[in-house]
Amino acid sequence: MHASRRFPFRAALALVAFGLVALSAPARAESPAVEEALATCTRCHDESEPHPVLSILHTPHAVVADPASPFAQDGCASCHGPSEQHQRRGRGPRAAPDVVFRADGPTPIAAQNAACLACHQGDERLHWQGSAHDLGEVGCVGCHDAHAIEDPMLDTHTQTEACVACHSTQRAELLRPSSHPLLEGKMACSDCHAPHGSSGPALLTQPTLNETCYTCHAELRGPFLWEHAPVREDCSLCHRPHGSVHPALLLSRGPWLCQQCHDAQFHPSTAYSGTGLPGETLPSGAQSLLGKNCMNCHSHVHGSNHPSGAGLTR
Ligand code: HEC
Ligand code: HEC
Ligand code: HEC
Ligand code: HEC
Ligand code: HEC
Ligand code: HEC
Ligand code: HEC
Ligand code: HEC
Ligand code: HEC
Ligand code: HEC
Repeated sequence: MHASRRFPFRAALALVAFGLVALSAPARAESPAVEEALATCTRCHDESEPHPVLSILHTPHAVVADPASPFAQDGCASCHGPSEQHQRRGRGPRAAPDVVFRADGPTPIAAQNAACLACHQGDERLHWQGSAHDLGEVGCVGCHDAHAIEDPMLDTHTQTEACVACHSTQRAELLRPSSHPLLEGKMACSDCHAPHGSSGPALLTQPTLNETCYTCHAELRGPFLWEHAPVREDCSLCHRPHGSVHPALLLSRGPWLCQQCHDAQFHPSTAYSGTGLPGETLPSGAQSLLGKNCMNCHSHVHGSNHPSGAGLTR
């Protein structure tokens, strides 16, 4: 009975002791083992390198309170491997570290990616394997700068520039008179694209192109009383997502835009110049068409909810 009365006290003591251990655990970077792991590398590598290495200590990778963080684990070696040969002094050139992160380095891209995926598999990387960037041999490091305090990919203002460094076609398209506000920093490529892979076409964030557009242009999702078939089918039948010389990101101007599909008997199907019309004067019937864009009358090209909107005119 005496013992059992003392038990809670002992248990409390044990709890306090355990708590102290638990509290100190997140600070493992200060523990001798990690200090040593760090020092093995920082003996030779520091901020004087062309690519300052110690800035990584100010990134989410060095949040030692997070047990999943590299610096709560093996420090530099969590990514670069123990690299014992590399640290050894010997004859001839120095052996490379176990994992060197660069496209033209000794480590194959797949092995570089594996080092990152060891911690970042799943979630948004679910579709990485076999994605356009995986197949195109773009490593994680082709986009991410793990040592930088500001990873350019994670900021809307810097991401666009980093993507178009490789995608020059899109760089040119963004400079056209009509474009989504990417260069203004109000949007990023990743608003439409899932850079790590997706189940949709062209790395789009949603399973279809239209679904991707609806995430922002929800008012066009419909359903409408009077649908316009191509709008339901594919916005890119009329729009270029990255930029166009025509207003509203259009593929071409009306009437040519519409006449891709409507070579109507009802309305003339050529661009209206007046030539070919009787006497080349302007009969009142044709006048209403001359020099006019289809959208002047068919103003509801995306669909209409008006009871008599069958012609998409209202
Ligand atoms: C004894 C000095 C020394 C130690 C210790 C050392 N390195 Fe190096 N490391 C170098 C030198 C010198 C170079 C550049 C010359 C070269 O490529 O051989 C280098 C290059 C590198 C590179 C770039 C390789 C490339 O090809 O781009 C990485 C990455 C690297 N070291 C990581 C590490 C890591 C991680 C550690 C700790 C596990 C470490 N180093 C420990 C001397 C050292
Ligand atoms: C999260 C993974 C990760 C950790 C942890 C890490 N590195 Fe790196 N390291 C990289 C990547 C990725 C690169 C390629 C350049 C870049 O993206 O910043 C790199 C490049 C380097 C380079 C070559 C720099 C150059 O000039 O090209 C050196 C040297 C290096 N790391 C040393 C270290 C040292 C020392 C540590 C520990 C203080 C460390 N790394 C921790 C991922 C990591
Ligand atoms: C030892 C595990 C580990 C390894 C290896 C690792 N990471 Fe991380 N990484 C983390 C943790 C933990 C975080 C912080 C929590 C989070 O955002 O998931 C993180 C965060 C990130 C972030 C978000 C940073 C931010 O500012 O929000 C990026 C990007 C990233 N890692 C890329 C990489 C790349 C690229 C590599 C390979 C060069 C790599 N990681 C290797 C554990 C790791
Ligand atoms: C084509 C460029 C690109 C490549 C290649 C790439 N990423 Fe990313 N990554 C991004 C962008 C853009 C973001 C931020 C937008 C987002 O959340 O999708 C990001 C965000 C992240 C994040 C932080 C947000 C999150 O998803 O948790 C992590 C971690 C990450 N990437 C890891 C990786 C790893 C690991 C690889 C290699 C297997 C990789 N990335 C390859 C562009 C890329
Ligand atoms: C408003 C949404 C949107 C934004 C923002 C966007 N894209 Fe796209 N992107 C698309 C769509 C939709 C496609 C599908 C093909 C098409 O119609 O051009 C595509 C296709 C692509 C393709 C494949 C092109 C081809 O011909 O196969 C690349 C590469 C691309 N985008 C890169 C980028 C880059 C880089 C950025 C950022 C500068 C970006 N995209 C921003 C919607 C977008
Ligand atoms: C290091 C170069 C590089 C960077 C940076 C890069 N890409 Fe790519 N991207 C490629 C390569 C290589 C391919 C595959 C070959 C191709 O389709 O051009 C590709 C393909 C694509 C595709 C076409 C997918 C398909 O199925 O047709 C899209 C979309 C794309 N990238 C978007 C992006 C976005 C968004 C970013 C920035 C977050 C980005 N890329 C950054 C190199 C890069
Ligand atoms: C992440 C949100 C977002 C997504 C996704 C998106 N857009 Fe946009 N869109 C915008 C914004 C923001 C504007 C600019 C509105 C403004 O300037 O008032 C815009 C403008 C437009 C315009 C009018 C441009 C002009 O010059 O008047 C068109 C057309 C357009 N988007 C089509 C699309 C298509 C097609 C898709 C799918 C491929 C798409 N958008 C996906 C946000 C988005
Ligand atoms: C049949 C061709 C066509 C299709 C398909 C089409 N649009 Fe349009 N869109 C237009 C035309 C034409 C304009 C310009 C309207 C004007 O000038 O009055 C326009 C304008 C826009 C605008 C600018 C704002 C506005 O409403 O005027 C947005 C946003 C837009 N479209 C988004 C979309 C989205 C999202 C899709 C797919 C769901 C889509 N469009 C499909 C022809 C089309
Ligand atoms: C990609 C092909 C395509 C383009 C481009 C296109 N349309 Fe259509 N349009 C269709 C189809 C398909 C129908 C449905 C025809 C049917 O149901 O008989 C349709 C129906 C219509 C209708 C209603 C006709 C009816 O009898 O229901 C009008 C009005 C119309 N389009 C106007 C336009 C205008 C204006 C433009 C240019 C902004 C345009 N279309 C561009 C394919 C297209
Ligand atoms: C001056 C106004 C005006 C212009 C400009 C105009 N339309 Fe029409 N269109 C109409 C009217 C009015 C109808 C009948 C609408 C109704 O029945 O509600 C119509 C009907 C249609 C129909 C349905 C035809 C049918 O058989 O029912 C199509 C398709 C069409 N227009 C396409 C176009 C195209 C493509 C252009 C540009 C080349 C164009 N329209 C220019 C006024 C115009």
